[in-house]
Amino acid sequence: MAEVVIVDHREQAGELAAHAIRSLIEQQPDAVLGLATGSTPLPVYQALARSLEANPLDVSAVRGFALDEYVGLPEGHPESYRAVITREVVEPLGLTPSLVHLPGYNSPAIETAGANYERDITDAGGIDLQILGIGSTGHIGFNEPGSSFASLTRIKTLTEQTRQDNARFFDSIDDVPRHCLTQGLGTILRARHLVLLAFGEGKADAIAAAVEGPLTASQPGSAIQLHPHVTVLVDEAAASKLQNADYYRYTWANRPDWQTI
Ligand code: F6R
Repeated sequence: MAEVVIVDHREQAGELAAHAIRSLIEQQPDAVLGLATGSTPLPVYQALARSLEANPLDVSAVRGFALDEYVGLPEGHPESYRAVITREVVEPLGLTPSLVHLPGYNSPAIETAGANYERDITDAGGIDLQILGIGSTGHIGFNEPGSSFASLTRIKTLTEQTRQDNARFFDSIDDVPRHCLTQGLGTILRARHLVLLAFGEGKADAIAAAVEGPLTASQPGSAIQLHPHVTVLVDEAAASKLQNADYYRYTWANRPDWQTI
């Protein structure tokens, strides 16, 4: 079962996730991080940047693999996930740019991009900690409903709902790409620790389906139930449709002293 932690505000979720990432890097300086984009993980990257500033740690060997990238944006577009990861993660944390990868950049053709990305992740020894957000459609990565639980990195078509949700980052919905490259659900399930974050009422249905719903490709987030080490960090609004919310609160309040996420 996933460990569900219901926090008062998103900054608290950011601090918890950042603490887990910091501990990992302290134990393993060349740790491999799986990096989500979008609004949700920003408190994590911000909390980690604050922690590194207050108490420096050598992160020059840390490696990263983004979950996904749009297909079809002009090179250097500020909303390409390469630009977002550079701006929100690599620069504020001081990571080594050449050690942070996104799908599609190590491939001469889109047809081979997925297989190349999978090879690069495997060659790095796999992802130690994968940060995840969840879409209102229930996607993790950009694995829209219907994605196979065994899927690997490949091109996907974004749903119209996801394009609308992401239009806030672009001048107009017409500028939102229709396609992306995304780690598959099978890729995500190979990471050693999944940290899924969600904030706000708009994520409540997707979180309830992911954590407590039946396993179904129609709710790709439910794939997390197949993973032995998942932490779900949610605010009250995103937790509002969880049937076992009281049990999750009780479990967290009574966790043993030694237990971290
Ligand atoms: C981003 C990603 C997506 C987002 C999801 C939520 O790399 O893979 O699954 O995590 O669309 O987006 P936000 O956080 O903007 O609500």
